[in-house]
Amino acid sequence: MKIELKVNGRAVHLDTDPLRRLLDVLREDLGLTGVKEGCGEGECGACAVLIGGRLVNSCLLPVGYLADSHEEIITIEGYRLLRTERFAALEAAFREAGSVQCGFCTPGIIMAAEALLAANPDPDEAEIREALSGNLCRCTGYQMIVEGIRTAARKGAGLW
Ligand code: FES
Ligand code: FES
Repeated sequence: MKIELKVNGRAVHLDTDPLRRLLDVLREDLGLTGVKEGCGEGECGACAVLIGGRLVNSCLLPVGYLADSHEEIITIEGYRLLRTERFAALEAAFREAGSVQCGFCTPGIIMAAEALLAANPDPDEAEIREALSGNLCRCTGYQMIVEGIRTAARKGAGLW
């Protein structure tokens, strides 16, 4: 099936099985390996991307579902290249708070933070934990991750 996607600001033309997972298309066909596979079952958030600004686990989405969609897919690679002020604030705050340990969960968590702060510029701790409830960190650094997002929000990251 021929499918056109918009990924990280560019049009991508695929001829592929529509039942393939978006996660596999992103990693295998487009080389976007910042999108991680953890559980493969929608439980860990390592594969999270933004589609039309919404947080989506790409391991659960058949790519054919997006065939007639004009919504842009943003992966961590594209988000980083956008160099928005929010990205810069999150990057600095994560460094300051020690939010990254092994880093496996980090791309999905950054995408979740972007979705949260776009919708809620000044989340409290409970709201941050709720927003991260679909993201598993095996290094158990949740407190530092929450602190990183709080720090970014305090510096105005939600307002940009
Ligand atoms: Fe998609 Fe875990 S790999 S949610
Ligand atoms: Fe290692 Fe989260 S930092 S899994």
